[in-house]
Amino acid sequence: MKDATPQPVLLADYQPYPFVVNEVALAFRLSPSATRVLSRILLAPNPERPGRHDLRLDGGGGLKLIRAAVNGRMLDVTPDAEGVTVAAADLPEGDFAFEAEVEINPAANTTLEGLYMSGGMYCTQCEAQGFRHITFYPDRPDVMAPFRVHVESDMPVLLSNGNPSGSGKGWAEWTDPWKKPAYLFALVAGDLVAVRDRFTTKSGRAVDLAIWVRKGDEDRCAYAMDSLKRSMKWDEDVYGREYDLDVFNIVAVDDFNMGAMENKGLNIFNSKLVLASPETATDGDFERIESVIAHEYFHNWTGNRITCRDWFQLCLKEGLTVFRDQSFTSDMRSAPVKRIDDVLTLRARQFREDMGPLAHPVRPESYIEINNFYTATVYEKGAEVIGMLKRLVGDEGYRKALDLYFDRHDGDAATIEDWLKVFEDATGRDLAQFKRWYTDAGTPRVHVSEAWSDGTYTLTFHQKTPPTPGQDKKPPRVIPIAVGLLNPNGDEVVPTTVLELTEPSQSFRFDGLASRPVPSILRGFSAPVVLERATDQAERAFLLAHDTDPFNKWEAGRALSKDVLTGMIAEGREPSRRLIEALGAVLRDESLDPAFRALCLRLPGEEDLAQALADAGRVPDPAAIHAGREALARAIGTGLSGDLSATYAALESRAPFSPDAAQAGGRALRLACLAFLNRVDGGDRAKALFDSANNMTESAGALGALIDAERGGAAVAAFHARWKDVRLVIDKWFTLQLVHGNPAGAAATARRLADHPDFDWKNPNRFRALMGALAANHAGFHDASGDAYRFYADWLIRLDPVNPQTTARMTTAFETWTRYDADRQALIRDELQRIAAAQGLSRNTGEMVGRMLAAKPA
Ligand code: BES
Ligand code: ZN
Repeated sequence: MKDATPQPVLLADYQPYPFVVNEVALAFRLSPSATRVLSRILLAPNPERPGRHDLRLDGGGGLKLIRAAVNGRMLDVTPDAEGVTVAAADLPEGDFAFEAEVEINPAANTTLEGLYMSGGMYCTQCEAQGFRHITFYPDRPDVMAPFRVHVESDMPVLLSNGNPSGSGKGWAEWTDPWKKPAYLFALVAGDLVAVRDRFTTKSGRAVDLAIWVRKGDEDRCAYAMDSLKRSMKWDEDVYGREYDLDVFNIVAVDDFNMGAMENKGLNIFNSKLVLASPETATDGDFERIESVIAHEYFHNWTGNRITCRDWFQLCLKEGLTVFRDQSFTSDMRSAPVKRIDDVLTLRARQFREDMGPLAHPVRPESYIEINNFYTATVYEKGAEVIGMLKRLVGDEGYRKALDLYFDRHDGDAATIEDWLKVFEDATGRDLAQFKRWYTDAGTPRVHVSEAWSDGTYTLTFHQKTPPTPGQDKKPPRVIPIAVGLLNPNGDEVVPTTVLELTEPSQSFRFDGLASRPVPSILRGFSAPVVLERATDQAERAFLLAHDTDPFNKWEAGRALSKDVLTGMIAEGREPSRRLIEALGAVLRDESLDPAFRALCLRLPGEEDLAQALADAGRVPDPAAIHAGREALARAIGTGLSGDLSATYAALESRAPFSPDAAQAGGRALRLACLAFLNRVDGGDRAKALFDSANNMTESAGALGALIDAERGGAAVAAFHARWKDVRLVIDKWFTLQLVHGNPAGAAATARRLADHPDFDWKNPNRFRALMGALAANHAGFHDASGDAYRFYADWLIRLDPVNPQTTARMTTAFETWTRYDADRQALIRDELQRIAAAQGLSRNTGEMVGRMLAAKPA
C-alpha cells in the first residue's frame, strides 16, 4: 500500500478535541491471532469547542470493527484507513457512551507498536500513536481519562496500569485512578516471574515493587531493582515528588523498538536495560540501566501527572526527564565524569543532527511522522536548555519554579509556554528571548577574542547561528557562559562567573588583575554552543594541567588531541610530543579520579574527527582519519609504554566485582591503557585478559582488543560458544566484530554475520547489533567502494515493511552525507534514492530519506 503524499501536521493547527473523555473501560480477550477488545468510553462535549461536532476516533490498519454503538444503539459506520467518524447527527446532546468491539492480530504485528507478541508473551507499546492499533480512540495526549482494564487470558500473569482491583482464574482487572492519555496505556500477559521488593514513601505509604521477567532471568534483576529504589528516594529528596499508586511494575521484553517506556504504573523495558549480572553486562550497561530505570520512573511526574498538550511539546516531558536522570546519575556517581559523558553524546548526536539536513528546533513546528522526532535535539538539547534555565535563575529559583509547575499543572496536558510562564512567575525573569532555544534550530557559534591592558582583561564574544532547513534568520539568543580566569602560575584569580550573552556581540571586563590571565571559558559546558577561539597548543596543555574546572580541564586535552589529529590527518604532521607528555602527566596523576583519567586518555573517535574536519571547511577522508588516529595511538603506546604498563598492572583488581562508579572507573582506565598497549604488544595483554576475565567489561574489552590486533579468531569462537544462550551477550558478539578490526573488512564481515543463524533480523536489538555497529565503524561504513552503503540500504529496504519505526531511525547513518567527497556523495545519494523508490515505503522512512535528499551538498 503506497501512501498518497503524506501531509505534515502543524503546531499552528492545534485545536482542542471537541469532546472530553470522562472514563474508559476496556476488556481484552487475548488470543494470538484474534484478540477481541471491547471498549466503553464516556464522552461529553468539550466547553472549549462549542457547537456540535462529529465524533472522530483514531484507529489504524489492523483493526477489524465488529460492532459499534452509542448509548447502546448500534451504529452503521465504516472505518477508513485512519479511523472512524460518527456524524454529529447520530450523537445525543450532552454526555454519551461510545462502545466498540474490535478484533486484532497481535501475533502478526511485527511493527512492535500497539499490542504485539514477544517471546510468547503479549505486550504493548503505545507512545506515540500505538493505542490506535488497539482500539478506536481519540489517540492524542491532551485527551486524558481514568482507565479500567479487564483482561482474560490463559497466561498466568496479567498486568495493566494502576492498581490491581480483582483477579481470578483466567482473568484480572486493573484500575488506574489517575487520568492519563492513551499513549500511557499498557498491558502485559505472559508466563513471567517477579522479583519483588517494597518501597515506603516519605509519607509512609507502602509500594509493592516488581520486576517481571522470564523464568531463568530472575538473578539478573538486582541492579535494576536497586536503581528503582534509589530513583524513588531521589525524586522525593530532590524534587519533593512521591509515588502515587500501590504498585510499581516493570516488565522486561526482548523485542522492543526503543529503550524503555513509562506507562503509568507498568513500565515496559527493553530487556537489555533491565537484565544485568557481572558476567553478562558491562559497566556501561549497569550505568545505562540505572539511568533508564530512573528516567522512566521520573516520568511519573514529568510526563504522566503532567503530560504534553500535543506531540510538538515532546521536549516538555523528554527534555525535562533527561535533565532529571542526568542529575540523578551525577548524584549517584561522579558529576564531572557524567557531564563529560553527556557532552560527548550531545556533540556526537545532537550537534551532528543540528548541522545537517535533519536539523529542527527543540520544539518542532511540523512533522509527517511523530516517531521521527524522538531525536537527540528533543532529548539532549531539550535537557541542555533546562540546564541553562537553571543556571540563569539559580538553584533556588529552579526549585521554586518546579514546585509551581507541579502545583499549577498537575493533571494537565501542558505546553512549553506553560513551562516558561512558571519560571517567569516564580522568578520574575522575562524569558521571551530565552524561548528562542525552543523555537530556533541550529547550534550557535560563539567566537571569543580577548584584550589586555593595564590590569584590565576584556573578553569579547560574537554569536552567530548558521541557517538550518526552513530557518534562515537566527536572532541572537541568551547564552550563559561560565568563565574563570587563571594566573600564569596556574592559580585561579577569578572563580567561575556566569556571563550572560544576549547581543550579537558583547564585551565583558575584568579589572584589577596583576598579570594577563589565561581564560577558562564555557566551564561545565554551560551552553550547547560551539566555542571558537584562536589558541595555541601550549595554552591547551596549560589548561589540561591546571584548570580547576574539571570539564574544561578535560576539554583542553580533548581540543589538544583534536588539533594534533587534524594536523596529522590533513597536513601529514607528526604526532605531538607535547600531547603525549601532557597525557602522560594526567595518566600518572593519582589525585585524579581514574574514570576522569580514562576520559582524558580516550582519543576523539573517527566520526568526531570527521565532524571537526568538516567544520573546519575540509572534506574528511575516512581512511586517512583512521590511519591518523591509529598512528597517534601507536605513538602514545610507544611513548608512554612504561607508565601505561605500570598503570595497567597496578589496576588489576582482586576484589569481588561491584558495578559501582569507583570500580568501574578503575576498569575504564585499565582498558584505556590497554587500547594503547595493544598497539605495541601485539595483543598479548588482551589475550591474557580475555583468558582470565571474570566480568563482561573486561571480557568484551579484551575481545575487542584481540580483534584489533588481528588475533580474534579463537576468542571470537570461544565467546560465542560460551554465551550462545544469552541473547544480550550475543548482541555484543555481533557488535564487537564490526566495530573492531581492519575497517576495510567491515562490509564483508557484516555480510558474513548477516548469514549467521543467530542473526534474527526482526529483533531490533539484534538488527542494531549488526547494522548499527557497521554504521558506527566510520572508516568501514564509508569505505570508498560503497559496499557498506549498499549492504546497509538493502537491509533497510528489507526491514521497512516489517518495522518502519526502527528502519526510519537507522536511516540517520546517512545524515552526514553532504560532508564527504563527490564520489561518496554520489554513492550515498544513489542509496537514498533507491530507498525512497522502494515499493510501499513507510511514511516513517519516506519522511527521513526525503529530508536527507533535500539537503544541498556543501
Ligand atoms: N517515552 C520514551 C519512550 C518512547 C520513545 C516511546 C519513542 C515511543 C517512542 C521513554 O521515556 C524514553 O525516552 N526512552 C529512551 C531512554 C531514555 C533514558 C532517554 C529510549 O527508549 O531510548
Ligand atoms: Zn522519556
